[in-house]
Amino acid sequence: MILPVIMAGGTGSRLWPMSREHFPKQFLSLHGEQSMLQETITRLRGLDVCEPLVICNELHRFLVAEQLRQINQLSNNILLEPIGRNTAPAITLAALHAVKYGQDPLLLVLAADHVIENPEAFHKAVRGAIPFAEQGKLVTFGIVATGPETGYGYIQRGITFGSDAVPAYRVQRFVEKPLLATALEYLESGEYYWNSGMFLFSATRFLQEMEQFRPDILAACRKSIENAQPDPQQDFIRVDTASFIACPDESVDYAVMEKTTDAIVVPLDAGWSDVGSWSALWDVNNKNDQGNALIGDVFTHNAANCYIKSDEKLVAAIGVDNLVIVNTKDAVLVINKSQVQDVKKVVEFLKLNQ
Ligand code: GDD
Ligand code: MG
Repeated sequence: MILPVIMAGGTGSRLWPMSREHFPKQFLSLHGEQSMLQETITRLRGLDVCEPLVICNELHRFLVAEQLRQINQLSNNILLEPIGRNTAPAITLAALHAVKYGQDPLLLVLAADHVIENPEAFHKAVRGAIPFAEQGKLVTFGIVATGPETGYGYIQRGITFGSDAVPAYRVQRFVEKPLLATALEYLESGEYYWNSGMFLFSATRFLQEMEQFRPDILAACRKSIENAQPDPQQDFIRVDTASFIACPDESVDYAVMEKTTDAIVVPLDAGWSDVGSWSALWDVNNKNDQGNALIGDVFTHNAANCYIKSDEKLVAAIGVDNLVIVNTKDAVLVINKSQVQDVKKVVEFLKLNQ
């Protein structure tokens, strides 16, 4: 049994001003008709999996329920966090919830905000990974690294573990978000994959690793589930607020993936993109001959390699190169495409000055 666990509780702050606290990027249609969350779920069709478990923030519960309804997906399986504590606690809650009634499904852990151009290739990689996860391995899906991105985890390939039909390798080393110089070294070595942020492992195997590496997080999550008050309407799965607020904040990459000695990487070549920034979004967008991705009411002259999006009002850009311009109802962003990671600084500034 495979239980898809969809992590949809991130803030998506690098896509400000489109992505907002009340409407983060996973709920936006940034690539195609459906929202990123809807695409994540629709992409599972054709794989033999159970009804997905979506984990998100309390604040977004109706948004998630409505988006599931729009794609005819049952919405009985929405687990709510009172506060974001990053992905290690989120997956731990999912695993504890999954084993509650004595079952031990394989958890297919997915981010809710990725683009995958080729779902068939993704299905093939997941199917290939099942036997490894059934043997108690923690499977990651690795993307061939094409640049020294510092926003990703890096996976060093070890000895072969798979077969010709399903290539797979032991994970020699996992390094989350290295510095640029280190990322460059990894890239040049040709031995590293990017961590796609998707995993397959059995719920109990994951909990064993949490017990070993982060018993504090496991204990806080256990309490959160055990002390939870039943939801009278039973529309959502809630955890105990006080116990979960006391849980340390950590990503699964630091908590488990960097430390485990039992990880396997299955290479994934499926047109994956994390669209984690405006430049990544420019990468996956259709572009005109000048390399401009233009969305909405936009006029350009002598402009090249820009991403320009306007929800309202005409935006005219002349003689500009390599810019991102995003015009929304209440904010305009103009930023050099090589500095898009710094959008976070606006978000930090706004938080301090609210
Ligand atoms: N439920 C829940 N709660 N979900 C969360 C939380 C949380 O507190 N924090 C993040 N998420 C969700 C996000 O919405 C996203 O779908 C996913 O978990 C990953 O979180 P990100 O915050 O986007 O992680 P990242 O992009 O910085 O890094 C991860 O993904 C990279 C690939 O995209 C890491 O796994 C990297 O190693 C990886 O390369
Ligand atoms: Mg991400």
